[in-house]
Amino acid sequence: MKDQNSKIALVTGSNRGIGKEIAKQLAMAGIKVIMSARDRQKGEETALSLKNQGLEVDFMTLDVRDAASIQKLPEELKNRGLKVDILINNAAVLLDRTARIDELSLEDLENTMATNVYGPFLLTQTLLPYMKKQNYGRVVNISSGMGSITDMSDAKSPVSTYSSPAYRLSKATLNVLTILFAKEASRHNILINSMCPGWVRTEMGGSNAPLSVEQGAETAIWLATLPENGPTGGFFRNKKLIPW
Ligand SMILES: NC(=O)c1ccc[n+]([C@@H]2O[C@H](COP(=O)([O-])OP(=O)(O)OC[C@H]3O[C@@H](n4cnc5c(N)ncnc54)[C@H](OP(=O)(O)O)[C@@H]3O)[C@@H](O)[C@H]2O)c1
Repeated sequence: MKDQNSKIALVTGSNRGIGKEIAKQLAMAGIKVIMSARDRQKGEETALSLKNQGLEVDFMTLDVRDAASIQKLPEELKNRGLKVDILINNAAVLLDRTARIDELSLEDLENTMATNVYGPFLLTQTLLPYMKKQNYGRVVNISSGMGSITDMSDAKSPVSTYSSPAYRLSKATLNVLTILFAKEASRHNILINSMCPGWVRTEMGGSNAPLSVEQGAETAIWLATLPENGPTGGFFRNKKLIPW
C-alpha cells in the first residue's frame, strides 16, 4: 500500500462548493492535491486561499468538456512531474432544475451529459492505464440521489418528482460508468465508487440545504482514501451503500 503522504489527487471543479472542500480535506490529510477549474483566475484564487492556510495544493486549468485537453493531461502531468493516484470527478452542472422530460431541450441534455458524464468518462479512461501500471488508484464519482433509479421509480421517495430530467439522466449514467470502470479496474487495486453528498449548501444546492460542505465532502474523503480491501463499484451516502 502506498504511503498516504506520497499520494496525489486531482479534483475537478474545485474552485468552489463541495469540490473545494474535498480538495481542502484531502490536503489536510497530507495528500498533495491538484485543484482544477475551467476558469483559470477563479481556480488560482481558490488554490491560493488554501495555500495561504499552509496546505499543499497545485492548480491546473481543466474544463471537463474539453476532450482535447483531457487527452493531453498525461503529458501535462509528466511535464510537471506529477501523477494521479486519486481522481475525484466532482465538476457538474444542473441546467434543467425546473424542466420536465416533455419539455427538456436536446441542447440542455447534450450540455449536461458533456459535463456530468463524458468528462468523467474521458478523465477516468485517460488516467486508468497509469493507475493500472502502478497498481493503485481511487476514483470517486460525485453522483446524486437524483440519479437513483430505485428512488425515481418509488412514488413514496422524496426524490420521485420528475424535475431535472437531464441531471437525473446524467447522474444515473455516471453510476453505470462507476460499475463498468470498477469491473475493468478491479484486478489492479483500483477502487471506483459513486457517492451522493446529500443536499448541501452550495451554488447548486442553494441556501436552504441542510448540510454544510464539510458534511457533503465526508464520504468522498473516505472513498478517496480506502484501504486495499475497500469496496468498489458501489453507490454510497454517509459512508453506507444506497440503492442504484
Ligand atoms: N449541492 C448539492 O446539494 C448536491 C447534491 C447532490 C450531488 N451534488 C453533486 O456534487 C458535486 C459538486 O456540486 P456543488 O454543489 O459543489 O456545485 P457547485 O457549487 O455548482 O460547483 C460545481 C463546480 O463544477 C464546476 N464545473 C462546471 N462545469 C465545469 C466544467 N465544464 N469543467 C470544470 N468544472 C466545471 C463549477 O465551476 P464554475 O465555477 O466554473 O462554474 C464548480 O466549480 C456535483 O457533481 C453535484 O452534482 C451536489
